[in-house]
Parts: sequence; C-alpha cells; structure tokens
Amino acid sequence: MSRTYRIAVLAGDGIGPEVMTETLRVLDAVEAKFGFNTERSVQLVGGAALDATGNETPLPAATVEACEQSDGILFGSVGGPKWENLPPDIQPERGALLPLRKHFGLFANLRPGVCLPSLTHASPVKNELIPEGFDVLCVRELTGGVYFGTPKGRENRDGEPVAFDTMVYKKSEIQRILRVAFTAAMGRGKKLVSVDKANVLASSVLWRETALEVAKEFPEVELSHLYVDNAAMQLVRRPGSFDVLVTENLFGDILSDEMAMISGSLGMLPSASLGAKKEGSDLYFGMYEPSGGSAPDIAGQGIANPIAQILSAAMLLRYSLGESDAADAIDAAVAKTIDDGYRTGDIATGAATEKKVGTQGMADAILA
Ligand code: NAI
Ligand code: MG
Repeated sequence: MSRTYRIAVLAGDGIGPEVMTETLRVLDAVEAKFGFNTERSVQLVGGAALDATGNETPLPAATVEACEQSDGILFGSVGGPKWENLPPDIQPERGALLPLRKHFGLFANLRPGVCLPSLTHASPVKNELIPEGFDVLCVRELTGGVYFGTPKGRENRDGEPVAFDTMVYKKSEIQRILRVAFTAAMGRGKKLVSVDKANVLASSVLWRETALEVAKEFPEVELSHLYVDNAAMQLVRRPGSFDVLVTENLFGDILSDEMAMISGSLGMLPSASLGAKKEGSDLYFGMYEPSGGSAPDIAGQGIANPIAQILSAAMLLRYSLGESDAADAIDAAVAKTIDDGYRTGDIATGAATEKKVGTQGMADAILA
C-alpha cells in the first residue's frame, strides 16, 4: 500500500494559478519517485472565490471544509486591483488569508531566507559577506504579541488623542514557538538565535527565561540571544553566520522582511505557517505559500518564477506529510537548476551564460 495524504490546493489569484500548475507537476514527479500519493482537493479562494460567489465571500465554506479534511494546505496568493475597492472584510487578504490562519491556529511562521551562491548578485548585501550564499530560517510567532494583545484602542485623555497597544505573551505560547524553532534547528545547523528586547520589555524577559528552559530539552542545539536592534544590524553585518532565528510577532514581521531582502528575490522564497502538532506525531498541520503576493504586474504572461511555490510544496512535504526525502529532492533539484544557469526574469542578469526561461520552462528544468 502506498502512503496516501490529503492536501487542499488553493491557487488563488494573479500568478497563483500559473505557479501552482507547475508545482503540481513537480509534486506528481516526486510522488512517482518516492512512492506516495496525494489526494488533492482543489478549491477557490480570494478574488477567484469572490467572482464565483457574486462578491459574497473570498473564503467559501467548502474551501474551509476541504482544508479541515486535509493534512495540509498548499496556498498560492490572493488579491489584485479588481477587488481592491470591496468592503474591507471581504477583501481577498483580510477576508481569506487572515481568517484561515486564525481558524487553524497557525502560530508558527517559518520563512527561509535563502540566497544560493550563484544568485548572490541578486542580494543588495556585498558578495564577500555571503560567499557561500545565505541560508537562514526565521521562525516568527504569528498569533500573539502586540498585534492581538488587549487593551488596544484609542481615547481622549487630557484633551488629546491617546492610542495604545499591549504586548502580551503567555508562557505556553512562548514554549510552543520555541519548541518549533529548536526542532527546526535540530534538522539544520543546530544553531538557534532567540531575538528579544529583554533589556526593556517584560514580555521579552519571560521570553528569554523560557528560551533557556526549553533549551534543556534540546541539549544539542547551541542557543544564543540577541536584542532585536542588534539582530537587525548583525543580519546585515554577518548574514552568513546565522542558522535559525526565533522571535515574537512584531520583531519577526520586520526581521523576516529584512532577511527576504538580503536574499534578493521574492520569487525564490517559500513560507510555512504551522499550527499544533498532529496527535501522536512530529508533524504539524500547516499552510504553505510563497512569501510574495499575486504579482498582478506580471500575471497571465507565463513569466513568474515558480520556485517560491515549488519550495512551499517541499515544506508541506517536510512538515505536514513527513516525506522529507521527497522534500530534500525538490530542494536539491531547485539548487541544481539555478546552478545550471536557468533564470526567470526576476533573477536574471542578462549574462550570456544564462538560460532564460518562463514559468513552465523553469519547472521543466527542475523536473529534468
Ligand atoms: P507582490 O509580492 O505580488 O509583488 C511585488 C513584486 O515582486 C512585483 O514586481 C512582482 O512582479 C514581483 N514578484 C512577486 N512574486 C514573484 C514571482 N514569483 N516571480 C517573479 N516576480 C515576482 O506584492 P504587491 O505588488 O505588493 O501585491 C500584489 C497583490 O498581492 C496585492 O493585491 C496584495 O494585496 C497581494 N498580496 C497577497 C499576499 C498573499 O496572498 N499572501 C501577500 C502579499 C501581497
Ligand atoms: Mg511583513
């Protein structure tokens, strides 16, 4: 009996369907090679769902149901100019992406910042600082902190407007995100940097204490701490020295964008948003999507880089299905394709040695 999994496929809008088509071909290939099978429930989300429902909802009940019945969600991207003027609560991102994250309690956002050695030209950081490329995994807490803490609001005090947010973390919330980060570090270079602001913030003091406690469960991982302002500097000063970085929601929002920029192209960067571990297993329920958006400026032209979506599928295989050999094979095939000189427009320099390809051509090279 071959291993069978269920996945929900939500391609969405813009370049989403184009890069998803190529990604499913890559998935077919690793399934045949590694002897497993995915049953795919293809569902509407975002603008595509709004169009189909007469602007009723970007997240139909059938889509949520298919996700609930799946082992993991492969998500494209949503949004575009066509839907920008709809009421906020039914706009593609606000009405579909955020509710999905919330519904499934996806508290851990994993964003690899990877710049392969032959793409260091795409990075704004000096080549000599990333001679071997750049390969950092950012683990960002996604459902706590100042974005959600209460009290939150605005009022008048002494005749002027005052606004306030609260950064709040429960110890259990810190423990679970740190365990995800330590576990990820175990599968990589075994070095974890925990980023906080423990010299100023009470929530960061609890964060650091908890990191030291959880570290005892992972004696093989080397844990160090950085204040967030210093972390922002060190990422630029010595990007090659980081392995895994873990931090709270707001700091992670900012640092993960900094890391994406260091690695050069949005079209190369996948992401995973993980929820709770599955019963009696080391696997997580999760949603996997490119770090970028629906790229309306290049949609419909067959020129989008499919790699971010393809690597997102590799993360799904690794974290939700436990098919890590297949995930490694995809990662290696992507690296070889880049080494061999295949380039979509976003990562091309115009050099004569480059093989210029479109979305489908890039997937063909990865498949080969
Ligand atoms: P974007 O990421 O879609 O595009 C930014 C730039 O990067 C564009 O020039 C685009 O062509 C390029 N780019 C992105 N992915 C690429 C790829 N795979 N290959 C080649 N080039 C690529 O961000 P933007 O322009 O801010 O947003 C466009 C739409 O996407 C908006 O409607 C926005 O709301 C939505 N969006 C959706 C997200 C999601 O579904 N998770 C995340 C971010 C934005
Ligand atoms: Mg951001």
